[in-house]
Amino acid sequence: MADHQSQILQALLAAENRYVSGNELAKRFNISRPAVYHNILKLEQNGHIIETKKGLGYCYQKSHCFDPQVIVHYRVTSYPVKIHVFDKLTSTNDYAKQYSTERTVFKPQLFLTDTQTKGRGRLGRRFYSPSNTGIYMSLLIPIQTRQSIHSGLITTGTAVCVIRSLKQFFPHVDFRVKWVNDILAHDKKCGGILTETTASLEDGSHENVIIGIGLNIDSNGFPAAISHKAGSIVEHSQVDRNKIVARIIDNFFYMYQTYQTGNFLPEYAELSEILGKKVKVVMGNRVYTGIADHFNNEGALVMMLADGQLITMASGEVTKVYLPENRYQG
Ligand code: BTN
Repeated sequence: MADHQSQILQALLAAENRYVSGNELAKRFNISRPAVYHNILKLEQNGHIIETKKGLGYCYQKSHCFDPQVIVHYRVTSYPVKIHVFDKLTSTNDYAKQYSTERTVFKPQLFLTDTQTKGRGRLGRRFYSPSNTGIYMSLLIPIQTRQSIHSGLITTGTAVCVIRSLKQFFPHVDFRVKWVNDILAHDKKCGGILTETTASLEDGSHENVIIGIGLNIDSNGFPAAISHKAGSIVEHSQVDRNKIVARIIDNFFYMYQTYQTGNFLPEYAELSEILGKKVKVVMGNRVYTGIADHFNNEGALVMMLADGQLITMASGEVTKVYLPENRYQG
């Protein structure tokens, strides 16, 4: 049986921007009016913004904190995901990894935090993760026995889902992707995706996949070393971050069920910052310069070199992609 705080929260969310009177809440949950008021105060202390109007009652506005109940309320599909929220973690990907070493995971889990102290990107690069202004989340998904994992396709598919989701809340922002895992807005990186796998100790086969997503919604104060290339989606956001997370979960699992077909790749190509442009790609100690031609059906980049030769680069082998003639220099 849910406690009164979560029952009241549920009733306010279900009222969808309408006021619910204290009297009605008291009757419905068989508690006193002061008890209703006390629970409303507790919800507010926990980061929920609730408007109170004399004679009308309470109206739910939004939440400053991540809350599984609010996320579930805003979801529109029912693919099962267990949601865990935190105020602070070192890294949601690291937490997901640790979680999966301590138990067998049977269904997808989402780890979401307000801030990370050791947020990381590809090749151990740091991912700036300040509080109140971003979304830092990792999906941990068990892999069915003998199913293979195509990290390149998962990462590109996730990028498409994340942008589809963001577009609904920030329709005027021109989001782009920089192969393979950077999300750009206003010619700066506003987000990234980090796909990792965990392997079975017995036979080395993949057991789980972890998809980390980091977004700077209205973050500021980027460290000097990255401020020329990292930015946020908007200066001030009024959007409840729980709504964005709910949309990302829904879009992700819709994509994930058929991701191996790569049916999102045309959309990824449309969003690409690099296709048709001059790129420099670093692979180990070699640098290739050419034109980004297309993405193949595994999400790898096919590049045309100066002599007309086409070469294929899988994301896992690439250390850096530069756009020497572009405004974005990440
Ligand atoms: C990149 O820039 O190369 C990818 C950045 C991925 C950042 C996210 S934030 C949530 C999750 N936890 C991490 O430590 N990293 C990912």
